[in-house]
Amino acid sequence: MGGEFILPRTASLEDPLRLAVLISGGGSGLLSLLEHQSATNCKHRTVLVLSDRESASGLQHGIDSGVKSAPVPLMDFSDPVVQRTTHEEEIHRLLIESEVELVVLSGYMRILTPWFVGHWKGRLVNIHPSLLPDFPGAHAHRDVLSAGVTVTGCTVHLVDEGVDTGPILAQQSIPVKSNDDAESLQDRVKQVEHSLYPQIIDMLSSGEISL
Ligand code: GAR
Repeated sequence: MGGEFILPRTASLEDPLRLAVLISGGGSGLLSLLEHQSATNCKHRTVLVLSDRESASGLQHGIDSGVKSAPVPLMDFSDPVVQRTTHEEEIHRLLIESEVELVVLSGYMRILTPWFVGHWKGRLVNIHPSLLPDFPGAHAHRDVLSAGVTVTGCTVHLVDEGVDTGPILAQQSIPVKSNDDAESLQDRVKQVEHSLYPQIIDMLSSGEISL
C-alpha cells in the first residue's frame, strides 16, 4: 500500500535542510537535536516545532532556540475521522508554509493517517524506544519488562502507513538491568536516542542514506 519513499534532497552547510520536529511531551529529544545543530557544522536546521498537546513543555525548547513553535491541538468535532483529518490538514498546512523538507517525529504520540504519510513518505522519520520490530506501540518499556528480555534499545525508521513498521535506518541496543523499571529504562534508552537520532539526521541530510 502507498507510494514510494522519496528521500530528502542532499543538503549543504550553505543551504541546510529545513526540519520540523513534532513532539507531544517534554521534548528531551528535541533539545538534543537543537543542541547538536547549534554545536556542530550541520546540514540541517529546525525551522518549526509543533505539538499536538498544548501542555507539552518541550515547546519551550523551540521557543528558547528562536524557532517558530506552536501547539496544534485537536479541535472539537463529533466525528473522530473529521477531527483527525482536520488536525493533520492543519499540521500539513503549517509544514508547507514553513517550507519544511524533513519531518522529525520525536516523542509524537499520534498515529498518522495514510493521507499524511503519503505526502511525506521518505521525508518523515521517527524514533521508537525499542528494537523494532519488537515492542511497537505506545508502551514499549512496559512491554519489554513484562516480556523479560535482557536487551532493548531504540530504532530510527522512516514512517510508512503501519504502526512502527517503516524501513529501519539505525538501531542501538542497551542491556535491561534486573532492577530496571519503566522509568529507569526510559531514561537510559533516551540517552542513546539523544546521540543516535541527530547522527542519522546528519546522514539523511548529507545524502548518505539510500533505500
Ligand atoms: C522518546 O523515548 C521516544 O522514543 C518516545 O517518546 C520519548 C519522548 O521523549 N517515542 C515514542 O514512544 C513514539 N511511539 P521526549 O519527549 O523527552 O523527547
